[in-house]
Amino acid sequence: MNAEDLKREIVKLKEEKNAVILGHYYQRDEIQELSDYIGDSLALAQEAQKCDKDIIVFCGVHFMAETAKILNPDRKVLLPDISASCSLAESCPATDFRKFKEEHPDHLVISYINCTAEIKALSDIICTSGNAEKIVRSLPENQKIIFAPDKNLGGYINSVTGRNMLLWNGVCMVHDAMEAESVLQLKIQYPDAKVIAHPECNAALLQVADFIGSTKAMLNYIERSGEHRFIVATEGGILYEMRKSFPDKEFITITSEQSCSCSDCSFMKMNTLEKLYLCLRDERPEIVMDAALMDAARKPIVRMLDISKQLGIIK
Ligand code: 13P
Ligand code: SF4
Repeated sequence: MNAEDLKREIVKLKEEKNAVILGHYYQRDEIQELSDYIGDSLALAQEAQKCDKDIIVFCGVHFMAETAKILNPDRKVLLPDISASCSLAESCPATDFRKFKEEHPDHLVISYINCTAEIKALSDIICTSGNAEKIVRSLPENQKIIFAPDKNLGGYINSVTGRNMLLWNGVCMVHDAMEAESVLQLKIQYPDAKVIAHPECNAALLQVADFIGSTKAMLNYIERSGEHRFIVATEGGILYEMRKSFPDKEFITITSEQSCSCSDCSFMKMNTLEKLYLCLRDERPEIVMDAALMDAARKPIVRMLDISKQLGIIK
């Protein structure tokens, strides 16, 4: 089947099966085009919580589909490529993390949503890049905190809040590889451009950014900014939404010397049109999880969503 036939079949199957397609901003353009809802991790978790369809097809990575399943244990949750992992989730094995937590019994555990269900189950509160700073600020100043698994996001939150959270040593392989030097080179070429960066980037890069925020926060910044040109320090998939929403503005991505010469997340790009079609047709790969694990992992996710509502971050 060619791409157009695949798209037609996907739309047909989705209607027949009363399914919804949730897609992250880092997915391939053609998948974002077919998604009923596109968002960042926070918005997708909230959308998953509200979902009333029989099937959720999650076009993102494994921890995101797992989160959707945890919030909807009675619905079928599908992930087009079940091996779509995440370097942050992989950096934090549950046995090591449990030991680390036991070594610091007086600490509260805040985990970034980019982690496995086992890590969520060991956490007190989950956060995303869209609410991490406000969640940390909402806690008493003297509260001791472990922040896992992203040392870049945790370090950034420490720097803006003045906290001294204990950081797990994990990174996003895509954002961490982006170099401040590449941004500075681009700034010479485009001196008028504003640098917008995701907090998963390393500290040196964040220092040269004009704006730091989650994927959704970057889109909001572009919308309210009078500027025309932006150097974008995050995964390249976001350009689909940026160009669609702001056709008159110009976006420049960062290339990295260290990794491949692109800003793509290989895990996010594992979902293809063909895999999406097969997944809707065959209703697999399905996310299947242990009920007790889901119950334990749900508590800190619901706590995050409740705090986010109380703080006015989400409606
Ligand atoms: P957000 O969608 O929360 O900005 O996170 C980015 C990311 O790396 C997701 O894997
Ligand atoms: Fe994980 Fe980074 Fe890929 Fe997001 S972009 S899924 S954090 S590896």
